Amino acid sequence: MRTEAPLDAATVESLLAAAVAAPSIHNTQPWRFRLDPDRQVLEVHSAPERTLPLTDPMHRAQYLSVGAAVFNLRLAAVHLGLRPEVRLLPDSHEPGLLAAVRLTGRLGADDQPSDPGLYEAIARRHTSRMPFTGRPVPEPIVAEMARAAQSADARLHLPDIAGTRRLLHLTAVAEARNHAHPARTAETLTWLTAPGSDAPYGVPVTALGPPDAGRRIPMRDFTASISAIRRPALWFERHVQLALLWTPHDRREDWLRAGQALQYVLLTATAHGLRTSLLHQAMEWADLRAATALPRHKRCHPHVVIRFGYGPDGAGTPRELGHFAARPAAPSATDTESG
Ligand SMILES: Cc1cc2nc3c(=O)[nH]c(=O)nc-3n(C[C@H](O)[C@H](O)[C@H](O)COP(=O)(O)O)c2cc1C
Repeated sequence: MRTEAPLDAATVESLLAAAVAAPSIHNTQPWRFRLDPDRQVLEVHSAPERTLPLTDPMHRAQYLSVGAAVFNLRLAAVHLGLRPEVRLLPDSHEPGLLAAVRLTGRLGADDQPSDPGLYEAIARRHTSRMPFTGRPVPEPIVAEMARAAQSADARLHLPDIAGTRRLLHLTAVAEARNHAHPARTAETLTWLTAPGSDAPYGVPVTALGPPDAGRRIPMRDFTASISAIRRPALWFERHVQLALLWTPHDRREDWLRAGQALQYVLLTATAHGLRTSLLHQAMEWADLRAATALPRHKRCHPHVVIRFGYGPDGAGTPRELGHFAARPAAPSATDTESG
């Protein structure tokens, strides 16, 4: 039985606009949304046709991306005065249903509204693949980023100089392996879009950055080194600031949690005027992913390396808003959900 006022079209549109602004690997936007108007539930489904079989065979990066979208959805709901109840993987019979967000009504007087700075950061956050200035980020901001990860059931490790070198080295090894793997290179290239393209997915060449002239930071080369589209090298920051996001377990729900944590960290950084980019290459090779784990923690499952600092903003990337459908309202209370 419906007990709440139905979600109006403008509300649903605002929720979805926030959700799809999330980062996703190669901007694949591997999600699809469905509204069940009868239960006031916005479902987040996997979009299997927008996954990366070679780069992400286990779909872990896809789940991270979807988790980031779910986090945005939660923030937008609270911004609109709605109370979101999130269930991850709510139906074992429907593995493609990754999350269900029930919008239970208006926030009560005792409900904590989320930090408005975070909601505003959703639209301002872009991946910045340009050199940063190297100005150190103040410790309280870094601590806030770590708290954000922790409160979303993940951890943020801030490596020392040796640890930073190690993460950069493992990423460089992964980047070299990707280059030497023609099929992976081809897969990545299919997600690169030309200037003027109206493709709603993929990474536009305008959003790419240059390679590091100092060869210290192995930014992902989406261009397969095609010189016509590759930017000339520039010197990147000497004092690179990295963070490793990890979780104590490595199940599908942990990947979704890690994605929410990732977005919480990125938005916290953005709200403080920082720029961020991601180095995921090492996570795409099982042995290198294992090598990024912290030796002191028995159960450390790494997910992504975050590079952060001060610098130029990243360019905007496109989004598809059309992946939305309303589930037909249930004709009777005895009907069961059929997927
Ligand atoms: C799980 C994950 C892994 C990513 N890995 C990389 C990466 O290795 N290199 C990179 O430049 N960007 C990476 N990105 C960033 C995406 O390319 C970016 O989010 C997407 O193109 C959309 O652009 P935006 O972040 O500016 O909105 C990754 C994003 C996610 C969610």
